[in-house]
Amino acid sequence: MALGRSMKKKILDLIQKKNKSKIISLTAYSKNIATILDNFCDLILVGDSLGSVLYNYKSTRQVNLNMMIEHSKSVRMGIKKSLMVVDMPHNTYRNSKEALKNAKKIILQTKCDAVKLEGGKKIYQIVKTLTKNDIPVVGHLGVLPQSDKNFKFKGKKNSERNKILKDAKLLENAGVFSIVLECVETSLAKLVTEKINIPTIGIGASNICDGQILVIDDLLGLNPINVRFVKKYANIRKEITKAVSNYSKDVRKKKFPQTKHSYKL
Ligand code: KIV
Repeated sequence: MALGRSMKKKILDLIQKKNKSKIISLTAYSKNIATILDNFCDLILVGDSLGSVLYNYKSTRQVNLNMMIEHSKSVRMGIKKSLMVVDMPHNTYRNSKEALKNAKKIILQTKCDAVKLEGGKKIYQIVKTLTKNDIPVVGHLGVLPQSDKNFKFKGKKNSERNKILKDAKLLENAGVFSIVLECVETSLAKLVTEKINIPTIGIGASNICDGQILVIDDLLGLNPINVRFVKKYANIRKEITKAVSNYSKDVRKKKFPQTKHSYKL
C-alpha cells in the first residue's frame, strides 16, 4: 500500500507539532459533526467509543468492523483537512495477518489516513507488520477499553508505570506516529511524553500531553454522565429539549407548519 503524498505530509505535520503547538483532536461518528470539527481539529478519530455513545453497548468489544467502516464513510464526507484516524475494533487484529487484511479494508473503504490499535508489547509485531506495509498507526496506552475490566486511571503502581513507559517506547520502535494516553496519572504522562519523540494525545492524562482528545458527545453535553476528565463545553441536551418541546407545542396548536412551509397549486 503506497501512501499518498498529502497523507504523508499530514502525518509529518502532526509529528512536528511535538514541543511546538498542541494537537487538537476529537471523535466524530457522522458527517455533519465532522464538518464542524474539521475547522478546528488536527486529528479526527472515528472511535469505537461509538459502541457506548451511539449504540448503548456495555463495552466497545461489541463493535464490529462493518459498523466502524459505515460510520467512517460518513465522517470522511465531512473532513477536508484534518487527519482522519479509525479505531480497529476488538477481535480484528488478533494476529498480523488478520490485522493487515482488516487495516487495508478500513483504509480502502473509508479513505482514512491511519488506524488506531490498543495495547503495547502484545501488539508489537502486529503494529510492525502494519507500518512495514505503509499503514500509518496510532497507538493507545493507559486504560484500554477493549481489554480492561475496569477503567480506573493507570500509574498508581510502579509495575504499571514501568510497563506503560516500556510499551510507549516499543510502540514508537514499531513505527506508530502518535500515542493516545487514556486515564494516565500526570507524572507518568509527563515521563512518557518526554521519553518518546512522537506526540502523545491525552484523554484524562493531564495537559502535559502533546495534544488532547475528547469524545464529542461528552464535550457537547449530550451524554448525561459526568466523568472527571470531561469538561462539558455546551449543554446540547438542554438545547435539543427546548427545540423539541417548542416543536411539539407548535404542532399541537397548529402553529407549524405555516403557509410558508406548505405547497400550493
Ligand atoms: O474510542 C475512542 O473514542 C477513543 C478515544 C477515547 C481516544 O479511543
